[in-house]
Amino acid sequence: MCGIVGYIGKQKASTIILEGLKRLEYRGYDSAGVATQVNGGFELAKKIGRVDGLMKATRAQKLPGTTGIGHTRWATHGGVTDANAHPHISSDQKIAMIHNGVIENYVGIKKFLLTKGYTFQSETDTEVLCNLLAYHYQKEPANAEGSRFLEAVRKTLRHIEGTYGIAVMCADCPAEIVSARKGSPLILGVGDGEYMLASDVSAIISRTQNVVYLKDGEIVHLTAKNFTITTLESEDVSPVIDKVSWTIEAAEMGSYAHFMEKEIFEQPLALENTMRGRFSEDGSTAVFGGLNISAIDFRQVDRFHFIACGSAWHSCLVAEQLIERFARVPVEVDYASEFRYRNIPLSKNALFFAISQSGETIDTLAAMREAQRKGYKVLAINNVVGSTIAREADGGVYQHVGPEIGVASTKAFTSQLLVGAMLALYIGRMRDMSFSSGIEYVKALKGVPDLVRETLKLAPQIKDIANRYAHYHDFLFLGRLTLFPVALEGALKLKEISYIHAEGYPAAEMKHGPIALISEQCPSVFLVSSGEMFNKVLSSMQEIKARKGKIIAIVSANCELPEGLADEVIRIPECHEAALPIIATIPVQLLSYYITVALKLDVDKPRNLAKSVTVE
Ligand code: F6R
Repeated sequence: MCGIVGYIGKQKASTIILEGLKRLEYRGYDSAGVATQVNGGFELAKKIGRVDGLMKATRAQKLPGTTGIGHTRWATHGGVTDANAHPHISSDQKIAMIHNGVIENYVGIKKFLLTKGYTFQSETDTEVLCNLLAYHYQKEPANAEGSRFLEAVRKTLRHIEGTYGIAVMCADCPAEIVSARKGSPLILGVGDGEYMLASDVSAIISRTQNVVYLKDGEIVHLTAKNFTITTLESEDVSPVIDKVSWTIEAAEMGSYAHFMEKEIFEQPLALENTMRGRFSEDGSTAVFGGLNISAIDFRQVDRFHFIACGSAWHSCLVAEQLIERFARVPVEVDYASEFRYRNIPLSKNALFFAISQSGETIDTLAAMREAQRKGYKVLAINNVVGSTIAREADGGVYQHVGPEIGVASTKAFTSQLLVGAMLALYIGRMRDMSFSSGIEYVKALKGVPDLVRETLKLAPQIKDIANRYAHYHDFLFLGRLTLFPVALEGALKLKEISYIHAEGYPAAEMKHGPIALISEQCPSVFLVSSGEMFNKVLSSMQEIKARKGKIIAIVSANCELPEGLADEVIRIPECHEAALPIIATIPVQLLSYYITVALKLDVDKPRNLAKSVTVE
């Protein structure tokens, strides 16, 4: 939610910042803006709409300067207007600021600042923070030890309730940027004679792979020559410079039309990377290097709690079924946003998993902190290295699928399903799962990337179906057991990118209400596997057919469907039940993708959404 970029060095800052903002657009695309430092003041350009629009609009305006900050916005306080776009400049013209987060106590601060003569051009909380900094800056003694600008930032932030990732420039301090974070991500890129700040590595990876992941409560002070990191309490911090393991190519679309398409087709490789090095030498169980909890302690866990949001929450519903089935340990799954406020009774030996691709989702982070506050360990399943959830967790599993840029989660979701399946194996093998069942399970998981490759070959058939069904306004997605969460995921994928109303249900639940929607105008996507539920799902399909509902059936290869029952049949490979949800997800991803392409909508940047949801 909102992306921020800062640059200080020898190059033209605005060019580098605009390139960085393009890569951060998935975090928000309501408006974009850049400010650079020029001759004791600021050059500013900001505009509603995409970064491309800003680039065009600023072509004539040269935006010179080698120090600058930029922002791409997902609106919270105040509508989508040029005035509400960032950067904001204080009314005394001393401070320029960009901000990702929410200032909760901005109303009281604004009242105070109005009494001091500060004025406001926008409805944003950020402009209030910017003016509060200007207020503290003018109060700070000019001859104070250290940087007057830095001290003013420190004093300002001590008054702030809420979350922020900010970067600020001061008109009196050429070639300086101060940046700080609390609850919003912030990364410092250490380049060759230059520094960059960003919400996410993808914005800076074209210039450097050396990064410092800043922590909550840290403030970085950049000059053209060096940087220092201190805390809000003025303590020095020794920076740890990490090397990012991926390169710019991973964050580019290559020959694909959209990031979502690229990420769907990347899944075989992504899943191989998730599994790499994570099976025991005897091939009978999973091994995880970073759980930070001994096998003996793991064995004592009497209940697992999974907390997550959105697609990640769907992956938890699959993990729940696999762990309960293969390891016979009870699992609770909660929406992270609900868990925090439900205050559920917890057993003594409970263990938590927080699942989050970005590792920055504020609801998941807050739920995780609540569990930790109660004295429980929380392990993270997370894709973004160095993210807040990864750092605050007591241990965990990195997904290693590379950057996911399409707003709709695809490869991160199937990788979460895979980690869940591996956990079920790991926990199962500590309990009743036999050596030979373990061997069979591992073999099945190792075969998943090839089965995904095979399933992806269905793309032309699914594209054809999508073209014929794109004009419908409602869809049902139906499945049973582990295919029910896949139905939920299919419905979410479709509605979030194509804006078509879709609902996911356990197939048998459909007759308890949703069947009222069925008509020729509301197709149902059935997820059907061979096995104990097959005949029951067939009955549900018959009930739909009897009401003239169209049926798209995604069916395991060996299932024999009665002639004419389904209008469209998509055959997926037969596989082990731990692999099934992953394989069945591929057609629902492709269906949503191709329907959205047929509707000529913006696949990678659907309206109202942002990739990483850092507000409650
Ligand atoms: C849907 C989607 C979202 C995310 C959710 C959690 O396609 O991407 O539902 O799954 O916002 O995000 P993370 O996993 O980053 O915590």
